[in-house]
Amino acid sequence: MRIGILTGGGDAPGLNAAIRGVGRRALAHGDTVIGVKNGWAGLIGDGDFMPMERHFFSGILALGGTVLGSSRTNPMKREGGREEVLRNLRRAELDALVAIGGDDTLSVAAWLADHGGECVGVPKTMDNDLSVTDYCIGFDTAVSRVSEAVDRLHTTAASHHRVMVVEVMGRDTGWVALMGGIAGGADLILIPEIKVTLDEVIDRLQKRLQSGSDFSIIVVSEGVEMEGVTDKESTSGKVDAFGHAQLSKRGVGEWLAEMIEERLGHETRTTVLGHTQRGGSPSAYDRIWATRVGCAAYDLVLAKRWGMMPVVRNGTVETAPIADVVREQRKVPAELYELAKVFY
Ligand code: F6P
Repeated sequence: MRIGILTGGGDAPGLNAAIRGVGRRALAHGDTVIGVKNGWAGLIGDGDFMPMERHFFSGILALGGTVLGSSRTNPMKREGGREEVLRNLRRAELDALVAIGGDDTLSVAAWLADHGGECVGVPKTMDNDLSVTDYCIGFDTAVSRVSEAVDRLHTTAASHHRVMVVEVMGRDTGWVALMGGIAGGADLILIPEIKVTLDEVIDRLQKRLQSGSDFSIIVVSEGVEMEGVTDKESTSGKVDAFGHAQLSKRGVGEWLAEMIEERLGHETRTTVLGHTQRGGSPSAYDRIWATRVGCAAYDLVLAKRWGMMPVVRNGTVETAPIADVVREQRKVPAELYELAKVFY
């Protein structure tokens, strides 16, 4: 068989481990592996492919990013884009395509499988908000980055008796903020799923001051909604190629820090972790599970189970329809947020 692999959407640590998993299994089986460059963009126009021989998979397990490149190009949003994808798949004589990505990339994969395309998926998003699967490539590394940053900020916050606001990624869900905040022992965590007012934030900080804690760490998700902060959809009108507003432009962390200084008179600083959360080497956990779902994706190809993808549930790799995984975003459950509140 000739098997294509593509990675779409925001890059995430662990993508290369998954590529290696698919590729090495395929080569061991005597198949030919073709890398599709830069996500769905590699199947648009004249197509952009690179044959991947054995040496391509050496030394990439511990590498961050994706050796295939990525983009947020969405063929569904482009006139004639769908036809171009189908045409390029035929021209490259691909017998199967493994699409590794989050909800946008996988939505295209689901459409493709629905229209006769030989396609399987692999779950990736540092936001961790795909349904059905407990694991998404990149999330564990991102959480570790947040927790490390909170550890570092603790010592400087304590020395200067300051409030530290840490803004983290997570477009619509607060998984990274909540888990990173719990791991780092944050004093307050603000996520899109749980509405908290500015008054409640100030009240919480005041209570800490009264109880003798003269510094605080707040982890805030870039997608948090609060009265006074720029609306999520109208963020300077800037959208990425998938059509999402660039949330980092809202400056929710900086806005919150200003409000705290104004209302409380407590010196406050902001750290925006941004792309450090998804750049660099993957955690061991991401390497292991990305390898497992990558290998499992190849098994789905062998079994010709088009439109399906490996998911992780209760500690094992299972199989689910791509369409189910992208049907809705998986939100942080309220009881998990309650756990963080025990330590406020
Ligand atoms: O979807 C993953 C993600 O990292 C989001 O958390 C974030 O909002 C977005 O991508 C930022 O992506 P970029 O800066 O690459 O457009």
